[in-house]
Amino acid sequence: MSRTAIVSAMHEELRALLPLLERPQQAEFAGRRFHLGQMMGRPVVLVLSGIGKVAAATTAALLLHEVEVERIVFTGAAGGLGAGVRVGDVVVARELLQHDMDASPLFPRFEVPLTGRARFPSDPALSDALAAATLHCLNDARTRIGEAHLADFGIDSPLLHEGLVISGDRFVATAPESEQLRKLLPDALAVEMEGAALAQVCADFGAPFAVLRTISDRADDSAHVDFSRFIVEVASVYTREIVASWLEGASFA
Ligand code: ADE
Repeated sequence: MSRTAIVSAMHEELRALLPLLERPQQAEFAGRRFHLGQMMGRPVVLVLSGIGKVAAATTAALLLHEVEVERIVFTGAAGGLGAGVRVGDVVVARELLQHDMDASPLFPRFEVPLTGRARFPSDPALSDALAAATLHCLNDARTRIGEAHLADFGIDSPLLHEGLVISGDRFVATAPESEQLRKLLPDALAVEMEGAALAQVCADFGAPFAVLRTISDRADDSAHVDFSRFIVEVASVYTREIVASWLEGASFA
């Protein structure tokens, strides 16, 4: 059976997934530990990418070239940009763009030079399946996450959003900066620091990928408040539950 990679940006997220790994084995490339094994009876590899576009690109290239995975799912947190994208919601990316890519006037703003495009689509079937698993898990977020944690973060009825996710090598933590991104890219739902780099590498390799993000903040002046606690108490739990539910029902061979 073909192997699926599940990539986390942060230790806390990987830590939540590792207990689900059966028959674990390890391999190391370029200072990264790749945790191979089975999850829900399917071959997987779990790995920490580290934070930022270069870390994500290196990890994706190693997964595709050294570990020879068939598909990559990147999980983690993101700042909400779109109206109605609230803390505790989940975003499944349908397209990804590097918001800090700017080789203008040589190339249009955001376009990755010599590729002719700024937006890289995620794999439709993989994203559909993750979106379905997300809806299933959000329906009983109360039991999965716990009323107390949800109330703590002001989360009421978490929603799924699907569309454009933008990535750049900065944690967006001021209202003017997120306002500027909204103005330049009005359809952007969320901002994070890795997804579009993964997308570019997967496009080079012709490999299917998807990006799943829990909204941890609104990319404004309070974006850093409670960030680590949110990752541990909410985002990591969502990721674990959604990935397990998706793998359980996955239709790929
Ligand atoms: N990941 C989670 N929140 C983020 C933010 N505000 N900016 C960039 N990456 C993020």
